[in-house]
Amino acid sequence: MLQLAASDLKRPTKGCLPTGHRKRIGVGACPITGMLSDGVSVSEAIEGANPFTRTEKVPTRFQYRRALEKLDIDAVEKDIKDLMHRNYSYWPNHGDYDHYGPFFIRLAWHCSGSYRASDGKGGCSGGRLRFEPERSWDDNTNLDKARTLLYPIKKKYGNALSWGDLYTFAGTAAIQDMGGPTKPFCFGRVDENSGRKSKILNEPCADSNAKKLPNGKCVGPWGTTTVGLIYVNPEGPIGADGKSRPDPKLSATDIKDAFGRMGLNAMETVALIGGGHAFGKVHGACSDHGPGDKPVAALKANSCSIWDGTCGGDGKGPNTVTSGFEGPWTNTPTQWGNDFFKGLLEDKWEKYHGPGGHYQWRTTDRASTRKDTMRLTSDMALLEDPAYKAMVDLFASDQGALDNAFAHAWTQLTEAGTKWSRAKKCQEIPTNSFSIGNGVGQAPTGWAAWMPQPAQ
Ligand code: HEM
Repeated sequence: MLQLAASDLKRPTKGCLPTGHRKRIGVGACPITGMLSDGVSVSEAIEGANPFTRTEKVPTRFQYRRALEKLDIDAVEKDIKDLMHRNYSYWPNHGDYDHYGPFFIRLAWHCSGSYRASDGKGGCSGGRLRFEPERSWDDNTNLDKARTLLYPIKKKYGNALSWGDLYTFAGTAAIQDMGGPTKPFCFGRVDENSGRKSKILNEPCADSNAKKLPNGKCVGPWGTTTVGLIYVNPEGPIGADGKSRPDPKLSATDIKDAFGRMGLNAMETVALIGGGHAFGKVHGACSDHGPGDKPVAALKANSCSIWDGTCGGDGKGPNTVTSGFEGPWTNTPTQWGNDFFKGLLEDKWEKYHGPGGHYQWRTTDRASTRKDTMRLTSDMALLEDPAYKAMVDLFASDQGALDNAFAHAWTQLTEAGTKWSRAKKCQEIPTNSFSIGNGVGQAPTGWAAWMPQPAQ
């Protein structure tokens, strides 16, 4: 049975991790109160969504197949879309435009973006984001909350809805809910019972002569320059002194490298970055308070608090610290559109230190309609590479081109590395989708004709 430290018991509303990494604890043993939907308590959801043990029972392939055959896709879609518009005090969304959707898109992207084309490892299939090492990667800060919010839906659909499907579908449904384009989503990612297969993604990197390389300089087959990041350092590449260089040109080189290792071309890369950043915001309300302990550190410290930030007292809502950058990319962060690209071209941008103490970018015209939006150094990078810049120009002037490219690239991203169940099944027509031509069984039309064809 879980033994809590006295200090944990003094803080009944904080955190919820157990003391023993190897021990299983009783549901509700952590002193956290509150309920989520369907009568699921917050403490049950935290444990259910963030296993306190190294392995967890998953259905056999046969059991999964039988259950998946009966999955009611429309019902799952309705439940997830309903959840996005709720607001739980456990992780309130009043600082996030009253919508959990952007947070779920980040969950889906970070789960999928671990894929590396070099050997086909990584990706969201397997649902390993809930285990070590991935859940403690710096880039995955606070995603434990997204998994916890989704837990009641996992509990409701049980074996029929795998974790890998739940994470990727939550992001896809969020895009649909906010008016964005998607292709039909397919279910059938088979879960794994531990994070073992992600260990290879987490090893210190080395060159082809087995010479150890500093983190930040990893080369293929590593999927990214930096173990613990899904992609690149948002503030610019890390220099020899260990500090970020807020230089968009250097960042563009890193992006080409990292997204290339995910198997994505320039069109897909730019559509995903600027399309993804049509939604939501970056979180870095304070410079003197970090996001708190990552799961692995919390467990080691025998503490119940995962990423339990203290900015503004509670580290939640408008006080959230995740990446340490602050602000939205557009004035309509819960509405799909191409203003990310228009803003890049129509405004001039300057770097400054944001409230979280990191370099980020703002409009030089402080009276611009976009004066309250921001860009990361890695966003500014899209102007610096000729192939990327051509895509920025296209997407800023042609919303339909962005719709097509984004829908295609999102599917490619979220399906990368998947070994499907034989019972794989797909949404027939994604609700709220644009007419994107290359849906199931349809040939691409118009602009989309030159895009890579979907596998038939
Ligand atoms: C160079 C690549 C990228 C970089 C450096 C980057 C960086 C970041 C950072 C620093 C945050 C803030 C996290 C926080 O503080 O809450 C963020 C949020 C976000 N990113 Fe990206 N990102 C990249 C690509 C993408 C892609 C490909 C997508 C999806 C297609 C995406 C979707 C999002 C969304 C939706 C959010 C907002 C989350 C929220 O509002 O809670 N990003 N990104």
